[in-house]
Amino acid sequence: MTAEDRIALVTGAGRGIGRAVAARLSAEGLRVALTARSAGELAETAASCPGPTLTVTADLTDPAAADRIFGAVEAEWGPVEVLVANAGSGHSARVDRTSDEDWQRMLDLNLTAPFRCIRRAVPAMRASRYGRVVVVASNAARVGEPYIAAYAASKHGVLGLVRSVAAEVATCGITVNAVCPGYVDTPMTDRTVEAIAAVSGRTDEQARAALAAKQPIGRLISTAEVAESVWFCVLNGGMSGQGITVDGGTVQA
Ligand SMILES: NC(=O)c1ccc[n+]([C@@H]2O[C@H](COP(=O)([O-])OP(=O)(O)OC[C@H]3O[C@@H](n4cnc5c(N)ncnc54)[C@H](OP(=O)(O)O)[C@@H]3O)[C@@H](O)[C@H]2O)c1
Repeated sequence: MTAEDRIALVTGAGRGIGRAVAARLSAEGLRVALTARSAGELAETAASCPGPTLTVTADLTDPAAADRIFGAVEAEWGPVEVLVANAGSGHSARVDRTSDEDWQRMLDLNLTAPFRCIRRAVPAMRASRYGRVVVVASNAARVGEPYIAAYAASKHGVLGLVRSVAAEVATCGITVNAVCPGYVDTPMTDRTVEAIAAVSGRTDEQARAALAAKQPIGRLISTAEVAESVWFCVLNGGMSGQGITVDGGTVQA
């Protein structure tokens, strides 16, 4: 089998990066299972995919979600061979104004949910001696910034998870990598723009331009650019344990 014949699962597939990754994998010929909480957004993503899709609504902060999602894919198609753990969200606050609930919410979705998905995915990948795991992390997995302590801690953590699992399964035909984007043009960044505008008195346009200017290329990353990097991780069986930075040159690692 080639990468193109495989069964993929994309979390957070309802919009933004996850939607672009799903469409890209589908265009390459993979069967793509889509999961998020919003059934309506998943249906829109499915409509944008040229090949077969399967949608499973779930809240990934539910400890039972991973087992339910993987079980649904297995019942319909068979074991997940390509896992893209993309679902995530951000939080911005001074560290002394970050509540226990905010901290826990970041860890639950951005770190614990990918852990549970990887834990559920690995046994079947190991048995078939093929697997691709790609976690969408962030350049906040590589460097810290003011006001994102909880988000950066969760993303640094997920890079540690990726590196460690990559080492553990290296002899089993399984690669595990992270893609680490800068600011991407998605609904999540729209929310960041609104938050910056609200606290700074700037217009949305000024706030968006400020985010674009943070990156040496002077613009936001496109979802297609992130999806391309995910596809590279799927295709390239020689690369594992890496954090692939797609941030317009901000972090030179
Ligand atoms: N946008 C950026 O600038 C940027 C930069 C670096 C890294 N990233 C990372 O890239 C990933 C995708 O970001 P994005 O910008 O595409 O975000 P987005 O536009 O907000 O989309 C997030 C996706 O995750 C799903 N999701 C959120 N909470 C969930 C939950 N509890 N259970 C299941 N699904 C959930 C959302 O669907 P529902 O709400 O319907 O569940 C949605 O489909 C995240 O991990 C993010 O941290 C983004």
